[in-house]
Amino acid sequence: MTQPAILVARAVFPEVLAHLAQHFEVESNQADTIFTKAELIEHLQGKQGAFTTGSERIDAEVLAACPQLRVVANMAVGYNNFDIAACTAAGVLATNTPDVLTETTADFGFALMMATARRMAESERFLRRGEWTKWTYDMFAGSDVHGATLGILGMGRIGQAIARRGALGFGMKVIYHNRSRLPAADESPLGARYVDKATLLREADHLVLVLPYSASAHHAIGAPELAQMKPTATLTNIARGGIVDDVALAAALRDRRIAAAGLDVFEGEPALHPDLLDVPNVVLTPHIASSTLATRRAMADLAAKNLVAALTGGVPPTPINGEVLAKA
Ligand code: GLV
Repeated sequence: MTQPAILVARAVFPEVLAHLAQHFEVESNQADTIFTKAELIEHLQGKQGAFTTGSERIDAEVLAACPQLRVVANMAVGYNNFDIAACTAAGVLATNTPDVLTETTADFGFALMMATARRMAESERFLRRGEWTKWTYDMFAGSDVHGATLGILGMGRIGQAIARRGALGFGMKVIYHNRSRLPAADESPLGARYVDKATLLREADHLVLVLPYSASAHHAIGAPELAQMKPTATLTNIARGGIVDDVALAAALRDRRIAAAGLDVFEGEPALHPDLLDVPNVVLTPHIASSTLATRRAMADLAAKNLVAALTGGVPPTPINGEVLAKA
């Protein structure tokens, strides 16, 4: 019996590729070129499955051009690169990689928030430039993390894991805003207080964004929101580019309307708005919040499991549009 054919659209761990090759005829892109839409369509011809990352956009046009496709498995928890309604309409199962990255991503979010509050990148650049000639009483004075008010926008699994670190490890007061309020059993161990967005912006000393990207979240933090924040506050974005208006943020940082920002994601990444490179009070990292070897491997393994199950009659562990399975 011939095996189903799949495309692994980006470079991945060789061990994961070897595992996939036990189940599928695999075309892989270990050269790791980023496919244009036309190239993606071309490489997907005759494929029943695709192993994707955030750089592959699966939309109605791609789906219409690839009628044999049955499953797209994203190696990411976020899936704004998928048009889920179009996948469902085409009967294509979409999967993602939740849970396995929660704690690693929360570690990074917390670290980025701390690096931002304590001006670590800015002071390191100063040191590397050879400008450190003497100790001064207020040198790179930042703001405290312990005991401060941690504001979280998007209180899903990762948001809650960051809140735990803040409340239990650093004695922070936790306030959050989310589409829906958490059950009291989840709020009370953290002392977390559900607030409206305006209160979150007004009261947070350190605001961390962890909400999924959607059209309604586009520029959820723009000039009007930044204007409501404390001038001493920091903003950390580990969610998605486009949730923050990067131009407005760069202006707010330049004018010290907020103290500092930590950004792991950017509008139009991997390109960065040049204004962000010009302001000193920002810590910039290249979308690495889930990047430990163990977690990236767990994400790749989970994406592979989803593909194998979906194309060999099993139950995919983490479907996004599971209703497609019910209809099959
Ligand atoms: C990374 O950004 C992810 O969504 O997993």
